[in-house]
Amino acid sequence: MGEIIMEITVKKAEPGHMKPKPQDETQLGFGDIFTDHMFLMDYEAGKGWYGPRIEPYNDLNIDPAAMVLHYGQEIFEGLKAYRGTNGGIYLFRARDNFARLNRSAQRLCMPEVETDLVMEGLIKLIEIDQDWVPRTKGTSLYIRPTMIATEPHLGVRPSNTYLFYIIIGPVAAYYKEGLNPVKIWVETEYVRAAPGGTGEAKTSGNYAASLLAAEKAKERGFTQVLWLDAVERKYVEEVGTMNMFFVIDEEIITAPLTGTILPGITRDSVLHILKDWGMRVSERSLTIDEVVEAAEDGRLKEAFGTGTAAVISPVGQITYKEKDYVIAGGKMGELSQRLYNEIVALQYGEKPDPYGWVEKIVPPGQR
Ligand SMILES: Cc1ncc(COP(=O)(O)O)c(C=O)c1O
Repeated sequence: MGEIIMEITVKKAEPGHMKPKPQDETQLGFGDIFTDHMFLMDYEAGKGWYGPRIEPYNDLNIDPAAMVLHYGQEIFEGLKAYRGTNGGIYLFRARDNFARLNRSAQRLCMPEVETDLVMEGLIKLIEIDQDWVPRTKGTSLYIRPTMIATEPHLGVRPSNTYLFYIIIGPVAAYYKEGLNPVKIWVETEYVRAAPGGTGEAKTSGNYAASLLAAEKAKERGFTQVLWLDAVERKYVEEVGTMNMFFVIDEEIITAPLTGTILPGITRDSVLHILKDWGMRVSERSLTIDEVVEAAEDGRLKEAFGTGTAAVISPVGQITYKEKDYVIAGGKMGELSQRLYNEIVALQYGEKPDPYGWVEKIVPPGQR
């Protein structure tokens, strides 16, 4: 049986119903502003995905018994589009995000999406709302693909119906610190994900489970928590919304993908780039004791988080068992800065992309 090509229908917002765009792009925060349109499609068991469409951004109409509201069958992604200095719009590794969405779908017993179809929907959506893609340096268009279980049914089993949608909105830096180093609390009481659990899936429950520890850390003046493994509370895993890298002597270390951490796209990009730079990189288990010993001996040169939201976020201090360890003099390290510059230059189409990560979706000057 051949592929059924689905037509994406478009219903544009009435000119009088368009939202005002942010006037001052330097004041853009993160995650509060959304554009005029959204992409949606529906799924029904036995029928598959149907009705791909772009519509004016609006409330969702779901039944109070919709299974997502009771049993948490929800998965999402986070990626960005960038306005290049030449005015064109670029996507960075979007297909890898949809591949990860499909892995999350498998783990949560949800249907996979057709990457070509959702890519087409996303690109069409960005084309329609292209004036919303900000132009100021450091800003971008955040993209949130989401899938929810919509069947009105109480009783624990996978839903028979789903809604997939993509919303987009202009953003600036994720952390108020920007590129300034963040302070991280090493969490010893709560855990984020256990072996065999859902840690490597991007699903809302993981984030709900992380809130209490993160709130307590914030009260103590920390930006995020660093999670340790759930079994021994010994191995360093990841930070709230970032994968972690530690530079000890000449070795750059990040936790291996053993199922409890999110396989970050930025993490993967950093690994590729570091290998190309001929650096010694290891995906290996790293104990928190090894980290703090290295910090005490002056061998912990840098620590940084990687993620779509902040790209590279230098860590200036970690606190473990009430003891503070200042890293790289509390400043952004040389390697963190070099990686940030490299990845940002690729994302904004400022330098040739040897990896095939960057996709130009709207040419400069198109209107
Ligand atoms: C828990 C967690 N770890 C790591 C990351 C970084 O992943 P990526 O580089 O794909 O944004 C994120 C952000 O999506 C995250 O939520």
